[in-house]
Amino acid sequence: MKPEREQILREMGLGPVWKLRVPTAAMPVEEVVAPPPATAMPLPEAAPTIAPVPGVASMAPPGATAWDELAVTVAACRKCSLCEARKQAVLGVGDRNADWLFVGEGPGAEEDQRGEPFVGQAGKLLDNMLAAIGLKRGDDVYIANAVKCRPPENRTPTPEETATCRPYLERQIELIRPKLIVALGRPAAQTLLQTEIKIAAARGKLHDYDGIPLIVTYHPAYLLRTLPDKARAWEDLCFMRQTMRQRKGA
Ligand code: URA
Ligand code: SF4
Repeated sequence: MKPEREQILREMGLGPVWKLRVPTAAMPVEEVVAPPPATAMPLPEAAPTIAPVPGVASMAPPGATAWDELAVTVAACRKCSLCEARKQAVLGVGDRNADWLFVGEGPGAEEDQRGEPFVGQAGKLLDNMLAAIGLKRGDDVYIANAVKCRPPENRTPTPEETATCRPYLERQIELIRPKLIVALGRPAAQTLLQTEIKIAAARGKLHDYDGIPLIVTYHPAYLLRTLPDKARAWEDLCFMRQTMRQRKGA
């Protein structure tokens, strides 16, 4: 079936927001690769103090928090050639104590302009996907990308670029300690899992990132082009919600 333009626009927020129809219990879970740890990782009591990103010289003033340190370092980063065409590096947005972490690929034109991830068309769909499971940007949700600088012409970042940028994402995860990580699309999933994957095979399973459950799903930009896979994205949303409930012991 060819995607209908009208349908796409509706899903982008110009029509009714998605509603969860499938009961969570009906979710097909093909296989559990790595079960989540029995106990949750303790959250830091207060803002952690500086622990620099490995291999990167500190540029923050004395007394800066770890987040300040990271933000200053990323804003000035020139470790890969993506720094050349960017307007600004885009670190991430949201609740720094979030239970949910969503990771995309890299900033697009609008994100580069505004300094916030997922603010373009794919971002509208992501917001609707979040709303479908009762979530809202910034409220128990943090959104980041595999690379912090916009790849020219919105090309996929190379494995070298994602590898160079990875310590920043690792640091974000260390600081946030989310209860669940959602990788949006292949580059995000491969960066986080450090292995080649295919979305069709990797979705519907619980993966593991350093003791944190990780779920792989389609990138919203891909879903805008490929409506037939939206039903699968629905299943993934249900799976995420179910996994989080289990993590929280609800
Ligand atoms: N696509 C992404 O992967 N990230 C963004 O921030 C925007 C679009
Ligand atoms: Fe640095 Fe990452 Fe930007 Fe490359 S993409 S310049 S590693 S912040």
